[in-house]
Amino acid sequence: MNLLTVFAWASAAVAASKQYDALQFTNLGFNGQYTPVSALNDPESDTCSCQVGDAVSFSGPGTPFDEDVAVYVRGPLQLRFFYVFTSDDFVLGSNDSSWTVVAGYNGTKAENLTFLTPAGADSKCLGKALTYADSDGTSKADKATLLSPDAELKSNEELVIFSDQKCGNSSVNGDCGVYRNGSPAYHGFKGKAKFFVFGWKSVNDVDSPNTVAHYNKSAISLLNARIPRTSMNFRDGNYSDCSCWSSGCGELTAFEATDDGHNDRFRTTLHSLQNTYDVDKGNTIDGYTFQDTPVGGGSVLIDTAGNVVVFDIPAYFLNMTLTSSELNKLYNLTGKTQVYDVSKATNKDGNGKSDGVSVTITKWKLAVAMAGILAMVI
Ligand SMILES: *[C@@H]1O[C@H](CO)[C@@H](O)[C@H](O)[C@H]1NC(C)=O
Ligand SMILES: *[C@@H]1O[C@H](CO)[C@@H](O)[C@H](O)[C@H]1NC(C)=O
Ligand SMILES: *[C@@H]1O[C@H](CO)[C@@H](O)[C@H](O)[C@H]1NC(C)=O
Ligand SMILES: *[C@@H]1O[C@H](CO)[C@@H](O)[C@H](O)[C@H]1NC(C)=O
Ligand SMILES: *[C@@H]1O[C@H](CO)[C@@H](O)[C@H](O)[C@H]1NC(C)=O
Ligand SMILES: *[C@@H]1O[C@H](CO)[C@@H](O)[C@H](O)[C@H]1NC(C)=O
Ligand SMILES: *[C@@H]1O[C@H](CO)[C@@H](O)[C@H](O)[C@H]1NC(C)=O
Ligand SMILES: *[C@@H]1O[C@H](CO)[C@@H](O)[C@H](O)[C@H]1NC(C)=O
Repeated sequence: MNLLTVFAWASAAVAASKQYDALQFTNLGFNGQYTPVSALNDPESDTCSCQVGDAVSFSGPGTPFDEDVAVYVRGPLQLRFFYVFTSDDFVLGSNDSSWTVVAGYNGTKAENLTFLTPAGADSKCLGKALTYADSDGTSKADKATLLSPDAELKSNEELVIFSDQKCGNSSVNGDCGVYRNGSPAYHGFKGKAKFFVFGWKSVNDVDSPNTVAHYNKSAISLLNARIPRTSMNFRDGNYSDCSCWSSGCGELTAFEATDDGHNDRFRTTLHSLQNTYDVDKGNTIDGYTFQDTPVGGGSVLIDTAGNVVVFDIPAYFLNMTLTSSELNKLYNLTGKTQVYDVSKATNKDGNGKSDGVSVTITKWKLAVAMAGILAMVI
Protein backbone atom coordinates (compact mmCIF):
# COMPACT_ATOMS: atom_id res chain seq x y z
CA MET A 1 0.00 0.00 0.00
CA ASN A 2 1.27 3.42 -0.86
CA LEU A 3 0.89 5.88 1.94
CA LEU A 4 0.24 9.55 1.68
CA THR A 5 2.25 11.47 4.20
CA VAL A 6 1.31 15.01 4.86
CA PHE A 7 4.28 16.97 6.16
CA ALA A 8 4.14 18.01 9.78
CA TRP A 9 3.57 21.65 8.96
CA ALA A 10 0.34 20.69 7.26
CA SER A 11 -1.38 20.72 10.61
CA ALA A 12 -1.24 24.51 10.79
CA ALA A 13 -4.62 25.74 11.92
CA VAL A 14 -6.55 28.18 9.83
CA ALA A 15 -6.64 31.53 11.61
CA ALA A 16 -7.25 34.67 9.58
CA SER A 17 -10.60 34.79 7.84
CA LYS A 18 -9.20 34.93 4.32
CA GLN A 19 -6.65 32.21 4.85
CA TYR A 20 -7.38 28.82 3.28
CA ASP A 21 -5.77 25.42 3.17
CA ALA A 22 -6.56 25.23 -0.53
CA LEU A 23 -7.80 27.52 -3.31
CA GLN A 24 -9.82 25.84 -6.04
CA PHE A 25 -11.13 26.81 -9.46
CA THR A 26 -14.00 24.79 -10.90
CA ASN A 27 -15.25 24.76 -14.49
CA LEU A 28 -11.94 25.85 -15.94
CA GLY A 29 -12.07 25.65 -19.74
CA PHE A 30 -14.12 27.33 -22.46
CA ASN A 31 -14.39 27.85 -26.22
CA GLY A 32 -11.55 30.23 -26.89
CA GLN A 33 -8.51 31.01 -28.96
CA TYR A 34 -5.11 32.64 -28.78
CA THR A 35 -2.67 33.96 -31.35
CA PRO A 36 0.72 32.21 -31.55
CA VAL A 37 3.84 34.19 -32.40
CA SER A 38 4.84 33.77 -36.05
CA ALA A 39 7.99 35.92 -36.17
CA LEU A 40 10.49 37.61 -33.86
CA ASN A 41 12.17 40.33 -35.90
CA ASP A 42 15.63 41.67 -34.96
CA PRO A 43 15.12 40.98 -31.24
CA GLU A 44 18.29 42.70 -30.10
CA SER A 45 17.92 45.85 -32.16
CA ASP A 46 16.05 49.03 -31.22
CA THR A 47 13.62 48.35 -34.03
CA CYS A 48 12.68 44.90 -32.82
CA SER A 49 9.13 43.75 -33.51
CA CYS A 50 6.98 40.63 -33.42
CA GLN A 51 4.18 39.15 -35.50
CA VAL A 52 1.40 36.73 -34.72
CA GLY A 53 -0.09 34.00 -36.89
CA ASP A 54 -3.57 32.57 -37.31
CA ALA A 55 -5.50 32.03 -34.09
CA VAL A 56 -5.35 28.61 -32.43
CA SER A 57 -8.78 27.52 -31.17
CA PHE A 58 -9.44 25.37 -28.14
CA SER A 59 -12.43 24.09 -26.22
CA GLY A 60 -13.30 21.76 -23.39
CA PRO A 61 -12.47 21.26 -19.72
CA GLY A 62 -9.10 22.53 -18.56
CA THR A 63 -8.36 24.61 -21.65
CA PRO A 64 -5.93 26.13 -22.39
CA PHE A 65 -4.03 24.59 -19.45
CA ASP A 66 -4.19 21.13 -21.03
CA GLU A 67 -1.33 22.30 -23.29
CA ASP A 68 2.36 21.94 -22.37
CA VAL A 69 3.25 24.11 -19.41
CA ALA A 70 6.57 25.39 -18.13
CA VAL A 71 7.09 26.23 -14.47
CA TYR A 72 8.03 29.80 -13.62
CA VAL A 73 9.68 30.50 -10.25
CA ARG A 74 10.44 34.00 -8.95
CA GLY A 75 12.48 34.85 -5.88
CA PRO A 76 13.07 35.54 -3.13
CA LEU A 77 13.22 31.81 -2.37
CA GLN A 78 15.27 28.64 -2.57
CA LEU A 79 13.69 25.80 -4.52
CA ARG A 80 14.26 22.66 -2.45
CA PHE A 81 12.33 20.03 -4.35
CA PHE A 82 9.96 19.74 -7.27
CA TYR A 83 7.94 16.88 -8.80
CA VAL A 84 5.63 16.58 -11.78
CA PHE A 85 3.08 13.79 -12.19
CA THR A 86 0.71 13.35 -15.14
CA SER A 87 -2.42 11.38 -15.87
CA ASP A 88 -4.52 11.05 -19.01
CA ASP A 89 -7.94 11.12 -17.43
CA PHE A 90 -7.91 11.90 -13.67
CA VAL A 91 -11.06 13.53 -12.31
CA LEU A 92 -11.15 14.74 -8.71
CA GLY A 93 -13.22 12.32 -6.62
CA SER A 94 -12.65 9.27 -8.81
CA ASN A 95 -10.11 6.59 -7.87
CA ASP A 96 -9.88 5.09 -11.35
CA SER A 97 -6.98 6.84 -13.08
CA SER A 98 -3.31 6.01 -12.95
CA TRP A 99 -0.52 8.56 -12.48
CA THR A 100 3.08 8.62 -13.67
CA VAL A 101 5.94 10.65 -12.23
CA VAL A 102 7.51 12.40 -15.23
CA ALA A 103 10.14 14.69 -13.71
CA GLY A 104 11.66 15.45 -10.37
CA TYR A 105 14.30 17.37 -8.42
CA ASN A 106 15.19 16.62 -4.83
CA GLY A 107 18.15 18.92 -4.22
CA THR A 108 20.81 16.37 -5.15
CA LYS A 109 19.36 14.87 -8.30
CA ALA A 110 17.27 16.21 -11.18
CA GLU A 111 15.56 13.86 -13.61
CA ASN A 112 13.85 14.65 -16.91
CA LEU A 113 13.86 18.43 -16.46
CA THR A 114 15.89 21.47 -17.48
CA PHE A 115 16.54 24.61 -15.45
CA LEU A 116 16.69 27.79 -17.54
CA THR A 117 17.08 31.41 -16.46
CA PRO A 118 16.95 34.77 -18.29
CA ALA A 119 20.72 35.40 -18.33
CA GLY A 120 21.14 35.87 -22.10
CA ALA A 121 21.08 38.78 -24.54
CA ASP A 122 18.68 41.57 -23.65
CA SER A 123 15.89 42.75 -25.92
CA LYS A 124 13.55 45.71 -25.62
CA CYS A 125 10.77 43.54 -27.02
CA LEU A 126 11.43 40.17 -25.39
CA GLY A 127 13.43 40.82 -22.24
CA LYS A 128 16.50 38.71 -21.56
CA ALA A 129 16.96 35.48 -23.50
CA LEU A 130 16.73 32.21 -21.59
CA THR A 131 19.98 30.31 -21.06
CA TYR A 132 20.80 27.18 -19.10
CA ALA A 133 20.91 28.09 -15.42
CA ASP A 134 24.11 27.41 -13.49
CA SER A 135 23.91 25.72 -10.08
CA ASP A 136 23.28 29.12 -8.44
CA GLY A 137 20.05 29.37 -10.43
CA THR A 138 20.74 32.75 -11.99
CA SER A 139 24.06 32.66 -13.89
CA LYS A 140 24.41 31.40 -17.43
CA ALA A 141 25.71 27.85 -17.94
CA ASP A 142 26.78 26.19 -21.20
CA LYS A 143 24.72 23.07 -20.64
CA ALA A 144 21.92 21.73 -18.45
CA THR A 145 23.16 21.96 -14.85
CA LEU A 146 21.92 20.66 -11.50
CA LEU A 147 20.45 23.42 -9.35
CA SER A 148 22.01 23.65 -5.91
CA PRO A 149 19.47 23.35 -3.08
CA ASP A 150 21.20 26.42 -1.58
CA ALA A 151 20.71 28.46 -4.75
CA GLU A 152 19.08 31.65 -3.59
CA LEU A 153 16.87 33.54 -6.01
CA LYS A 154 16.68 37.18 -4.89
CA SER A 155 13.68 39.42 -5.50
CA ASN A 156 12.67 39.39 -9.17
CA GLU A 157 15.23 36.71 -10.11
CA GLU A 158 13.65 33.98 -12.20
CA LEU A 159 14.00 30.30 -13.03
CA VAL A 160 11.96 28.55 -15.71
CA ILE A 161 11.72 24.76 -15.58
CA PHE A 162 11.00 22.73 -18.73
CA SER A 163 11.12 19.01 -19.48
CA ASP A 164 14.27 17.48 -20.99
CA GLN A 165 12.61 17.03 -24.42
CA LYS A 166 14.27 19.31 -26.95
CA CYS A 167 12.14 21.27 -29.38
CA GLY A 168 12.27 20.71 -33.12
CA ASN A 169 13.03 23.66 -35.39
CA SER A 170 11.46 27.01 -34.62
CA SER A 171 8.42 27.48 -36.84
CA VAL A 172 4.84 28.64 -36.30
CA ASN A 173 3.66 25.15 -37.26
CA GLY A 174 6.48 23.32 -35.50
CA ASP A 175 6.17 21.22 -32.35
CA CYS A 176 7.10 24.20 -30.13
CA GLY A 177 6.02 27.05 -32.39
CA VAL A 178 8.40 29.97 -32.95
CA TYR A 179 11.07 30.39 -30.28
CA ARG A 180 13.98 32.69 -29.72
CA ASN A 181 17.05 31.99 -31.80
CA GLY A 182 20.11 30.99 -29.78
CA SER A 183 18.19 30.01 -26.64
CA PRO A 184 17.87 26.43 -25.44
CA ALA A 185 14.31 25.36 -26.31
CA TYR A 186 12.50 22.49 -24.57
CA HIS A 187 8.98 21.17 -24.39
CA GLY A 188 7.02 21.87 -21.23
CA PHE A 189 5.17 19.26 -19.20
CA LYS A 190 2.41 17.54 -21.15
CA GLY A 191 -0.64 15.75 -19.83
CA LYS A 192 -4.36 16.44 -19.66
CA ALA A 193 -4.17 16.07 -15.87
CA LYS A 194 -1.10 17.27 -14.00
CA PHE A 195 0.07 17.40 -10.41
CA PHE A 196 3.00 19.56 -9.32
CA VAL A 197 4.73 19.49 -5.95
CA PHE A 198 6.95 22.36 -4.84
CA GLY A 199 9.19 22.53 -1.79
CA TRP A 200 10.77 25.90 -1.09
CA LYS A 201 12.49 27.86 1.64
CA SER A 202 11.64 31.50 1.92
CA VAL A 203 14.56 33.90 1.73
CA ASN A 204 14.56 37.18 3.62
CA ASP A 205 15.94 39.37 0.87
CA VAL A 206 17.76 42.10 2.77
CA ASP A 207 20.33 42.50 -0.03
CA SER A 208 18.12 43.79 -2.85
CA PRO A 209 17.12 47.46 -2.84
CA ASN A 210 13.42 47.78 -2.07
CA THR A 211 13.02 49.64 -5.37
CA VAL A 212 13.56 46.45 -7.37
CA ALA A 213 10.48 45.12 -9.20
CA HIS A 214 8.53 42.51 -7.22
CA TYR A 215 10.55 43.26 -4.10
CA ASN A 216 10.03 40.50 -1.51
CA LYS A 217 7.25 39.06 -3.66
CA SER A 218 7.84 35.41 -4.53
CA ALA A 219 5.78 33.63 -7.17
CA ILE A 220 5.33 30.24 -8.80
CA SER A 221 3.31 29.96 -12.02
CA LEU A 222 2.42 27.40 -14.63
CA LEU A 223 2.86 29.09 -17.99
CA ASN A 224 1.87 27.87 -21.43
CA ALA A 225 5.36 26.70 -22.47
CA ARG A 226 5.19 28.85 -25.61
CA ILE A 227 5.31 32.02 -23.51
CA PRO A 228 8.82 31.94 -22.01
CA ARG A 229 10.28 30.40 -25.17
CA THR A 230 9.61 33.70 -26.93
CA SER A 231 9.57 36.34 -24.22
CA MET A 232 10.37 36.81 -20.56
CA ASN A 233 8.83 40.27 -20.99
CA PHE A 234 5.41 38.75 -21.49
CA ARG A 235 3.49 41.06 -19.15
CA ASP A 236 4.54 44.18 -21.06
CA GLY A 237 1.46 45.09 -23.08
CA ASN A 238 3.57 47.24 -25.41
CA TYR A 239 4.96 44.04 -26.91
CA SER A 240 1.86 41.91 -26.77
CA ASP A 241 2.63 40.22 -30.10
CA CYS A 242 5.90 38.87 -28.71
CA SER A 243 4.27 36.05 -26.77
CA CYS A 244 0.84 34.42 -26.72
CA TRP A 245 0.30 35.60 -23.10
CA SER A 246 -1.84 38.67 -23.92
CA SER A 247 -4.05 36.71 -26.28
CA GLY A 248 -4.79 34.21 -23.51
CA CYS A 249 -2.73 31.04 -24.07
CA GLY A 250 -2.64 30.76 -20.31
CA GLU A 251 -0.80 31.42 -17.09
CA LEU A 252 -1.93 29.95 -13.79
CA THR A 253 -0.27 31.90 -11.01
CA ALA A 254 -0.54 29.31 -8.27
CA PHE A 255 1.41 31.19 -5.62
CA GLU A 256 2.02 34.92 -5.73
CA ALA A 257 2.78 36.97 -2.65
CA THR A 258 -0.04 39.39 -1.94
CA ASP A 259 0.51 43.06 -2.66
CA ASP A 260 0.46 44.09 0.97
CA GLY A 261 4.05 43.13 1.78
CA HIS A 262 3.37 39.61 3.02
CA ASN A 263 5.77 37.19 1.41
CA ASP A 264 4.05 34.36 3.28
CA ARG A 265 0.51 34.87 1.94
CA PHE A 266 -0.02 33.61 -1.59
CA ARG A 267 -2.97 34.26 -3.84
CA THR A 268 -3.97 32.36 -6.96
CA THR A 269 -4.90 33.91 -10.31
CA LEU A 270 -5.96 32.50 -13.64
CA HIS A 271 -4.59 34.60 -16.49
CA SER A 272 -6.70 33.43 -19.41
CA LEU A 273 -9.63 35.01 -21.26
CA GLN A 274 -12.33 32.83 -19.69
CA ASN A 275 -15.07 35.22 -18.57
CA THR A 276 -12.84 38.26 -18.59
CA TYR A 277 -11.54 40.70 -21.17
CA ASP A 278 -8.46 41.44 -19.09
CA VAL A 279 -5.77 38.75 -19.10
CA ASP A 280 -3.65 40.76 -16.72
CA LYS A 281 -6.27 40.89 -13.96
CA GLY A 282 -7.66 37.51 -14.94
CA ASN A 283 -9.74 35.69 -12.33
CA THR A 284 -8.39 35.83 -8.79
CA ILE A 285 -9.62 33.81 -5.85
CA ASP A 286 -10.51 35.97 -2.87
CA GLY A 287 -8.26 34.61 -0.13
CA TYR A 288 -4.78 33.19 0.22
CA THR A 289 -2.75 30.20 1.27
CA PHE A 290 -0.24 30.80 4.04
CA GLN A 291 3.25 29.48 4.80
CA ASP A 292 3.78 29.52 8.54
CA THR A 293 7.34 28.16 8.52
CA PRO A 294 10.35 29.27 6.45
CA VAL A 295 10.65 25.81 4.86
CA GLY A 296 7.40 24.82 3.22
CA GLY A 297 5.82 24.60 -0.15
CA GLY A 298 2.67 23.68 -1.96
CA SER A 299 1.06 21.50 -4.60
CA VAL A 300 -1.05 22.19 -7.68
CA LEU A 301 -3.55 19.78 -9.22
CA ILE A 302 -5.17 20.19 -12.64
CA ASP A 303 -7.70 17.46 -13.46
CA THR A 304 -9.56 16.72 -16.72
CA ALA A 305 -12.92 18.01 -15.48
CA GLY A 306 -11.92 21.66 -15.09
CA ASN A 307 -10.76 21.56 -11.46
CA VAL A 308 -7.59 23.32 -10.33
CA VAL A 309 -6.62 22.93 -6.68
CA VAL A 310 -3.73 24.83 -5.09
CA PHE A 311 -2.77 23.23 -1.76
CA ASP A 312 -0.71 24.97 0.93
CA ILE A 313 1.40 21.86 1.51
CA PRO A 314 3.96 20.03 -0.65
CA ALA A 315 2.20 16.67 -0.66
CA TYR A 316 4.79 13.92 -0.40
CA PHE A 317 4.16 10.46 -1.82
CA LEU A 318 6.31 7.62 -0.65
CA ASN A 319 8.62 6.43 -3.45
CA MET A 320 6.97 8.94 -5.79
CA THR A 321 4.16 6.56 -6.57
CA LEU A 322 1.03 8.65 -6.73
CA THR A 323 -2.41 7.10 -6.92
CA SER A 324 -5.77 8.75 -7.55
CA SER A 325 -7.06 7.53 -4.23
CA GLU A 326 -4.17 9.28 -2.43
CA LEU A 327 -4.89 12.51 -4.27
CA ASN A 328 -8.56 12.28 -3.32
CA LYS A 329 -7.48 11.62 0.24
CA LEU A 330 -5.27 14.71 0.16
CA TYR A 331 -8.21 16.75 -1.08
CA ASN A 332 -10.52 15.29 1.54
CA LEU A 333 -7.94 15.92 4.27
CA THR A 334 -7.67 19.57 3.33
CA GLY A 335 -9.68 21.57 5.81
CA LYS A 336 -10.84 24.87 4.43
CA THR A 337 -11.08 25.39 0.67
CA GLN A 338 -12.19 28.49 -1.19
CA VAL A 339 -13.90 27.37 -4.40
CA TYR A 340 -14.28 29.77 -7.34
CA ASP A 341 -16.47 28.77 -10.28
CA VAL A 342 -14.80 30.30 -13.36
CA SER A 343 -17.89 29.65 -15.52
CA LYS A 344 -19.90 31.98 -13.26
CA ALA A 345 -17.32 34.77 -13.13
CA THR A 346 -18.85 38.12 -13.94
CA ASN A 347 -15.82 40.35 -14.35
CA LYS A 348 -16.35 40.86 -18.06
CA ASP A 349 -15.66 44.53 -17.54
CA GLY A 350 -12.20 43.59 -16.38
CA ASN A 351 -12.45 45.22 -12.98
CA GLY A 352 -11.23 42.04 -11.36
CA LYS A 353 -14.33 41.75 -9.19
CA SER A 354 -16.57 38.74 -9.53
CA ASP A 355 -18.87 38.58 -6.56
CA GLY A 356 -21.03 35.59 -5.94
CA VAL A 357 -18.97 32.83 -7.47
CA SER A 358 -16.91 31.76 -4.45
CA VAL A 359 -17.98 29.34 -1.77
CA THR A 360 -15.97 28.07 1.17
CA ILE A 361 -16.12 24.40 1.98
CA THR A 362 -14.87 23.09 5.30
CA LYS A 363 -13.94 19.47 5.64
CA TRP A 364 -12.57 19.46 9.19
CA LYS A 365 -14.63 16.58 10.53
CA LEU A 366 -13.48 14.36 7.74
CA ALA A 367 -9.92 15.68 8.12
CA VAL A 368 -9.82 14.74 11.78
CA ALA A 369 -11.14 11.26 11.02
CA MET A 370 -8.68 10.76 8.15
CA ALA A 371 -5.73 12.06 10.19
CA GLY A 372 -6.51 9.42 12.79
CA ILE A 373 -6.55 6.69 10.15
CA LEU A 374 -3.27 7.86 8.62
CA ALA A 375 -1.60 8.09 12.01
CA MET A 376 -2.36 4.41 12.49
CA VAL A 377 -0.93 3.22 9.21
CA ILE A 378 2.22 5.35 9.01
C1 LIG B 1 9.98 2.26 -1.33
O1 LIG B 1 11.25 1.99 -1.87
C2 LIG B 1 12.08 1.26 -0.97
C3 LIG B 1 13.48 1.17 -1.57
O2 LIG B 1 13.42 0.89 -2.95
C4 LIG B 1 11.44 -0.12 -0.73
O3 LIG B 1 12.23 -0.86 0.16
C5 LIG B 1 10.06 0.09 -0.14
O4 LIG B 1 9.41 -1.16 -0.02
C6 LIG B 1 9.23 0.97 -1.03
N1 LIG B 1 7.97 1.28 -0.34
C7 LIG B 1 6.78 1.26 -0.95
C8 LIG B 1 5.63 1.61 -0.09
O5 LIG B 1 6.64 1.00 -2.14
C1 LIG C 1 12.28 10.13 -15.86
O1 LIG C 1 11.79 9.49 -17.05
C2 LIG C 1 11.97 8.07 -17.03
C3 LIG C 1 11.61 7.57 -18.43
O2 LIG C 1 10.33 8.00 -18.80
C4 LIG C 1 11.12 7.49 -15.92
O3 LIG C 1 11.30 6.10 -15.85
C5 LIG C 1 11.53 8.10 -14.58
O4 LIG C 1 10.68 7.66 -13.55
C6 LIG C 1 11.46 9.62 -14.66
N1 LIG C 1 12.00 10.18 -13.43
C7 LIG C 1 11.31 11.00 -12.64
C8 LIG C 1 11.95 11.46 -11.38
O5 LIG C 1 10.21 11.41 -12.94
C1 LIG D 1 17.64 12.33 -4.27
O1 LIG D 1 17.44 11.17 -5.06
C2 LIG D 1 18.61 10.40 -5.23
C3 LIG D 1 18.33 9.25 -6.18
O2 LIG D 1 17.02 9.06 -6.43
C4 LIG D 1 19.08 9.89 -3.88
O3 LIG D 1 20.27 9.13 -4.03
C5 LIG D 1 19.34 11.08 -2.97
O4 LIG D 1 19.67 10.63 -1.68
C6 LIG D 1 18.11 11.96 -2.88
N1 LIG D 1 18.46 13.16 -2.14
C7 LIG D 1 17.67 13.69 -1.22
C8 LIG D 1 18.13 14.95 -0.57
O5 LIG D 1 16.60 13.17 -0.92
C1 LIG E 1 15.93 22.06 -38.97
O1 LIG E 1 16.80 23.08 -39.42
C2 LIG E 1 18.07 22.59 -39.83
C3 LIG E 1 18.99 23.78 -40.11
O2 LIG E 1 18.29 24.79 -40.77
C4 LIG E 1 17.88 21.71 -41.06
O3 LIG E 1 19.11 21.20 -41.48
C5 LIG E 1 16.95 20.57 -40.67
O4 LIG E 1 16.65 19.80 -41.81
C6 LIG E 1 15.64 21.09 -40.09
N1 LIG E 1 14.87 19.98 -39.57
C7 LIG E 1 13.61 19.78 -39.93
C8 LIG E 1 12.95 18.59 -39.31
O5 LIG E 1 13.01 20.53 -40.67
C1 LIG F 1 4.64 51.16 -22.83
O1 LIG F 1 4.86 52.31 -23.64
C2 LIG F 1 4.49 53.50 -23.00
C3 LIG F 1 4.65 54.62 -24.04
O2 LIG F 1 5.89 54.57 -24.64
C4 LIG F 1 5.37 53.71 -21.78
O3 LIG F 1 5.01 54.92 -21.12
C5 LIG F 1 5.18 52.54 -20.83
O4 LIG F 1 6.07 52.66 -19.73
C6 LIG F 1 5.47 51.25 -21.56
N1 LIG F 1 5.14 50.15 -20.69
C7 LIG F 1 6.06 49.36 -20.13
C8 LIG F 1 5.56 48.29 -19.25
O5 LIG F 1 7.24 49.51 -20.36
C1 LIG G 1 9.46 39.87 3.42
O1 LIG G 1 8.17 39.45 3.82
C2 LIG G 1 8.18 38.68 5.01
C3 LIG G 1 6.79 38.11 5.23
O2 LIG G 1 5.84 39.11 5.27
C4 LIG G 1 8.67 39.54 6.15
O3 LIG G 1 8.70 38.80 7.35
C5 LIG G 1 10.09 40.01 5.83
O4 LIG G 1 10.54 40.90 6.83
C6 LIG G 1 10.13 40.72 4.49
N1 LIG G 1 11.54 40.92 4.14
C7 LIG G 1 12.01 42.06 3.70
C8 LIG G 1 13.48 42.10 3.43
O5 LIG G 1 11.30 43.04 3.50
C1 LIG H 1 -11.16 5.89 -3.06
O1 LIG H 1 -10.32 5.02 -2.30
C2 LIG H 1 -10.37 5.22 -0.89
C3 LIG H 1 -9.43 4.26 -0.25
O2 LIG H 1 -8.14 4.42 -0.69
C4 LIG H 1 -11.78 5.05 -0.36
O3 LIG H 1 -11.78 5.38 1.02
C5 LIG H 1 -12.72 5.97 -1.11
O4 LIG H 1 -14.04 5.73 -0.70
C6 LIG H 1 -12.61 5.73 -2.61
N1 LIG H 1 -13.45 6.71 -3.29
C7 LIG H 1 -14.24 6.39 -4.32
C8 LIG H 1 -15.03 7.52 -4.92
O5 LIG H 1 -14.32 5.26 -4.74
C1 LIG I 1 -13.67 12.00 -0.32
O1 LIG I 1 -14.91 12.43 0.19
C2 LIG I 1 -16.01 12.10 -0.65
C3 LIG I 1 -17.26 12.65 -0.03
O2 LIG I 1 -17.01 13.81 0.65
C4 LIG I 1 -16.11 10.60 -0.80
O3 LIG I 1 -17.16 10.30 -1.70
C5 LIG I 1 -14.83 10.05 -1.34
O4 LIG I 1 -14.91 8.64 -1.35
C6 LIG I 1 -13.67 10.49 -0.47
N1 LIG I 1 -12.44 10.03 -1.09
C7 LIG I 1 -11.46 9.52 -0.40
C8 LIG I 1 -10.27 9.10 -1.18
O5 LIG I 1 -11.48 9.40 0.79
